[in-house]
Formats: sequence, C-alpha cells, structure tokens
Amino acid sequence: MALVVLVGAQWGDEGKGKITDFLAEQARIVVRFQGGNNAGHTVVVGQEEFRLHLLPSGILHPDKECLIGNGVVIDPAVLREEIEALAARNVTIGRLYISERAHLIMPYHRYLDKLQEERKGEAKIGTTCRGIGPCYADKISREGIRVVDLLDREHFAEKLRRNVDLKNEYIEKIFGAPGLDYESILAEFKSHAEFLRPYTADASMILSQAVYQGKNVLFEGAQGTLLDIDHGTYPFVTSSNPTASEAAAGSGIGPTALDLVLGVSKAYTTRVGEGPFPTELDGPAGEEIRSKGREFGTTTGRPRRCGWFDAVIGRYAARVNGLDYLAVTKLDVLSGLDTLKICNAYRWRGELLTEFPANVEVLAECEPVYEELPGWSEDITGARRLKDLPKAARRYLERITELVEVPVAMVGVGVRRSQTIVIQDVFADVFEE
Ligand code: GDP
Ligand code: IMO
Ligand code: MG
Repeated sequence: MALVVLVGAQWGDEGKGKITDFLAEQARIVVRFQGGNNAGHTVVVGQEEFRLHLLPSGILHPDKECLIGNGVVIDPAVLREEIEALAARNVTIGRLYISERAHLIMPYHRYLDKLQEERKGEAKIGTTCRGIGPCYADKISREGIRVVDLLDREHFAEKLRRNVDLKNEYIEKIFGAPGLDYESILAEFKSHAEFLRPYTADASMILSQAVYQGKNVLFEGAQGTLLDIDHGTYPFVTSSNPTASEAAAGSGIGPTALDLVLGVSKAYTTRVGEGPFPTELDGPAGEEIRSKGREFGTTTGRPRRCGWFDAVIGRYAARVNGLDYLAVTKLDVLSGLDTLKICNAYRWRGELLTEFPANVEVLAECEPVYEELPGWSEDITGARRLKDLPKAARRYLERITELVEVPVAMVGVGVRRSQTIVIQDVFADVFEE
C-alpha cells in the first residue's frame, strides 16, 4: 500500500492532470484535497481532450474511486456541469465521494470575487473570478455553508438567509452594487442538494477504511507551491494550501499515513495572473515557448506568462513540500532552442540571494542569475526511455536534479499518457523501503 501526494512545484499548470491520470492506473482512489474550480487540469485520452476543474483526474479511469475532500471548495453548479458533460461524452465514471465537510461556493462568492478585483484596480490579483477567495474567507470566519448544511433542509434556508442578508449589505453599502435575490438562490440550491446527495459521504472515513484495506491512494494537488496562501508569493496567491501537508488536513487523514511526495514542474516556468516572476521572458523567446507549449489557461483562456526554469523556486518547493521526486513535464517544448537558461540564484540590490524571499517587493526587484546549457534540435515526443533522449536533454535534466537536489522520477514529452518517461516508479519506491 502507498499514499502518494502529487503537488505543483511552481505557479500551477505544471501538468498535474496528465501525471495524475498516468499514475491513477496504479492507484485505487484519487483524491482532491484543496482548491476548487479555479483549477484546470487537462487530460488527453486517445483523441479526446478533457478539461477537469473539480473532479479528480482519476475520473477518466472507470474502475477507480474518486474523492473530493473537505479542503476543497465546491461550486455545485460547476460540479454538476462537469459530471453531466462527461456523461454526454459517454464517459463512464467510477465511484465518486464528496466530503460532507467541504464548503460551498455560493453565488455571492463569485460576485464578490469580481467586485473585489475591480475595486483593487491596478493592484488586482488576477483571480479566476470563481469565488475561491471569498468562499475560503467565509470558511475561516466561520460564516461558510458546507455540503452537510445543504443536505439539511430544515436549517439550510435559515443559514442562507443570514448569509445573503449580510452579503447584500456589504455589496450594496461598500461596493454600491445591486444585491442578490435570496429566493432564487434558495430554489437553485434545493435542486443542487438533490443532485449532490447520492455522492455525499464521510470522506475521511472512506479514505481511512481504504488505507486500512491496503489500497494505493493518489492525492492530486491543484494550483502550485508559489500560489500557496502561506508559502506562495503573497498576496498574489490563491486562498488555499496547495502544498503537500494539506493532503492530510484537506482529506481527513493523519500526516503519518502519507508515504511519498512528488512535485510536478515544467521544464520551464509559467504563471497566470499578476505578481512578480523573476525569470519571465517578455520578448520573442517567451512568445515562442507560449506558442509551442500552447500556454493558455485551461480555466480562463488567458495567455500564460512564460520564462526559464528557476532552480531557486525548485529548491524552495522541495523544502516546503518535502519532495521525494520531481516529475518534469513539457521537456519536448524546449526542443529547437539553441541555448537554454536555468536560474540558480537572484541578485537583489547587489546581494546574491540563494533562497526564495518572503517579501514580494524584494522578489519584484530580483534579477535572475543564469547559467546556460546547450539545447537540442531533435523532436523528443517519441522518446519513451531516458536513453532515447539526446545527450543535451539528459544533461538538462541532470542539472535540474543537481540544483534542486531532488531526483527526477518522470519526464513528460507530450500530452498523451504514453508520452511519459518513467525513471522511477513512485508507487514501487514505497514498497521497496
Ligand atoms: P495542471 O493544471 O497542472 O493540470 O496543468 P494544465 O492542464 O492546466 O496545463 C498543462 C498543459 O500542458 C495541458 O494542456 C497538458 O495537456 C499539457 N501537457 C502536460 N504534460 C505535457 C508534456 O509533457 N508535453 C506537452 N507538450 N504538453 C504537456
Ligand atoms: P491549476 O490547478 C494556475 C491563480 C490565478 C491568480 C491566483 C488567485 O490548473 O494549476 P484564485 O481564483 O485562485 O483566487 O486566483 O491564482 N490560479 C492558478 N494559476 N493554475 C491554477 O490551477 C490556478 N488557480 C488559481 O490566476 O493568479
Ligand atoms: Mg491548470
């Protein structure tokens, strides 16, 4: 039995969905433990592309169980749409469990996300406007509505009334915007309750039974380390903890049960939304990576900002997640570039920084210190073993390992399941110990 945690080691969109789908073959249960439908995980199966937002990326394996943990924030309309869209494409989905303790994204959360972003103007975060921040804010201030509340007909109406009254006062008085209609939200959510009811479970209990029975579990992180509310580039972050320890708290098992942490990182770096990004490439090089890597947001369609691989970030992600291995994705996108750069430190006002700074103002002034490596011209999308890669590509991966001090277990060379080089089987690694 092995419990493997997969997390984003950069600013999200590292290719977690593809790696999760690949590893799901070896797992019995795939678990989402934080975030919401701000996530966009693209999985390609055969000729078909699936964009998952709330459902774990194991859902495309009909024989697997999927679980949405208490740490996730759920927009029921989105979940419903996602389940129905898969059914419309004739995808048979496996057993799905939704934690009764998960918080619900309500219409006023989406509305407030938009109003707050507009009010911030130049200082905006560049959120996905899916209501994520306002929903987690209500959770922490103990005003949130959970799945279990929605199923409790007697008390739901009263909780909703209290919330809508309070939010409307805030929306009207602070933002000068029209409030929302309580009755229509109530009617909408009554219908969501009936849809969600059959999936709802004590997810922590289901998971602990699975662990007791010796089943393999894969935890699928959303977002990435630098978007973490505690460890990321605050305030340009999301409102949850995408780092590995949340796999325990966000699903209701103890941290001692987790065996191994796999960090997913692109062979370069991307970011969507605002905030500093030291290795960002503004000119044609960034444009080339964006078009070759098809770097446009899965959720919002926004062009992703692109830049070189940053080993300062890699080391930081290794530390705060306790990474055992790295999965390096999209190596194929770098084919054809004469020279590749890796940032191994920052220069800030004449000082050399080797650790990732906490202050976002300092990060904004950091100049990357680069080392250069030779590129390769070969198409590597057909490589299936490490030895199929050109020498320069292998050297590039070795250099990442040396700088980040984490071994590479997997390499992505294309969007398909088969376009994955496995150097170390992470589930087997746990058994070998
Ligand atoms: P996630 O949010 O971490 O799951 O990543 P996204 O799905 O938002 O973005 C990653 C994109 O890269 C998706 O379109 C994937 O299909 C694609 N992708 C994943 N791995 C590879 C790879 O190794 N090579 C290439 N070319 N594309 C990849
Ligand atoms: P996946 O799981 C990349 C970014 C947004 C914004 C910030 C806050 O696909 O990797 P939010 O809506 O969460 O309040 O936005 O976080 N962001 C992501 N960027 N990938 C994601 O998810 C993201 N989820 C949120 O662009 O900068
Ligand atoms: Mg994504």
